[in-house]
Amino acid sequence: MTEQAYYFNPWDPEFRADPYPHYPALLAGPPRVTILPGAPFALVARYRDAVAVLRDHERFSSIGPPPPPDQYQGPFADSKNVLNSDPPDHTRLRRLVSRDFTPRRIRELEPRIAEIARELIGTAAARGEFDVMADLANILPVMVIAEILGVPAERYAMFKDWSDRIIGAGTTPPGAPPPAEAVDALEAMADYFGAEIERRRRKPGADLVSALVAAHDDSDALTAGELLSFVSLLLIAGNETTTNLIGNGSLALMRNPAQLVMLRREPALLGSAIEEMLRYDGPVQSTARFPKQGVEVDGIEIPPGSIVVVVIAAANRDPAKFSDPERFDITRDPNDHLAFGEGIHFCLGAPLARMEARIAFSTMLERFPRLRLRDPGAKLVYKGSYFLRGLAALPMAIE
Ligand code: HEM
Repeated sequence: MTEQAYYFNPWDPEFRADPYPHYPALLAGPPRVTILPGAPFALVARYRDAVAVLRDHERFSSIGPPPPPDQYQGPFADSKNVLNSDPPDHTRLRRLVSRDFTPRRIRELEPRIAEIARELIGTAAARGEFDVMADLANILPVMVIAEILGVPAERYAMFKDWSDRIIGAGTTPPGAPPPAEAVDALEAMADYFGAEIERRRRKPGADLVSALVAAHDDSDALTAGELLSFVSLLLIAGNETTTNLIGNGSLALMRNPAQLVMLRREPALLGSAIEEMLRYDGPVQSTARFPKQGVEVDGIEIPPGSIVVVVIAAANRDPAKFSDPERFDITRDPNDHLAFGEGIHFCLGAPLARMEARIAFSTMLERFPRLRLRDPGAKLVYKGSYFLRGLAALPMAIE
């Protein structure tokens, strides 16, 4: 069998703007091993291969190589967090942080999230203009994280700015130093949360940071650096992803008017519509693993030192798993997508993200009965990261 030509380049803005036409070639065969800037890469796209890698944390580590010694090491160089650790550290950290991130605690946030969504959408409605990103999706998740961390919601603009600058560095080719503005943001975030942790130690509240400080102080189970690293991870992981679910999901709905009509007629389909938004154009396109030694996936040798890129968004359109995968179908059932990952690193914030999306869409559709794209032919502009895919703007017509 001749190898089908494929193209995969997260550093090409054209590829980033629309990676989907490039996925079928990757799905046509087993993993591809290729050299991209800095390292050998193995692209794992087929659903069954992606699941196999994500479930096999014994052979596929979540700990990447450290930056070269002459480069910026970052404020968390010596501190692990759930996302970048393997068992046994991962098991200990996940247990500690899950204790205070339970479905019950998340449900308690529902009224406050609904209030924020109503306020944001009400402000746009009063102005007579609505951009899904600027007026809702960019703001709601970061205000919710601020609420969870127990910091004043007015701080959200500062949080958002740090998060944007740090995520923007995700497009830096491997081995290249991070941009100065990302370094400044990381340092500012670490300083801010360091001080907040101290404040909560002196005067605990009912928030997540206070609970984690207590976990640290009680048994020393969570080191001070790990505590800081987790709080910072929450701000990054829980913010941009949910923003992009609301944005990418709105676009999919507006481009499929029959599905939008069906959802308006049958609001009980919202949960399943959100699962389809996650499958069809998920916020996380790919995640990475680092083989501990030479490994094989589907008969392909992956050399040690490779970066294994698990192309979640391609797996979510694998015809071997999903019938008619290019179709956006809000009634799809079953819909075992990988948008939140798989295995021990499965997204800790999935229940929160689903709830935020549910509230955002129900509030938006109710408030704007004639919602549609303002200019359906306009070229869409995406933000700078391939790994976290999201729109820079999504202007709507509301009358
Ligand atoms: C639609 C929104 C979201 C998507 C698509 C998403 C996606 C993901 C994915 C794919 C992973 C696994 C990464 C890997 O295995 O390498 C992950 C892990 C994680 N996510 Fe999310 N996420 C979302 C929202 C959130 C929210 C709201 C939070 C918290 C407030 C959050 C916190 C985390 C954490 C802490 C991990 C690491 C878990 C572990 O390693 O054990 N995420 N997420």
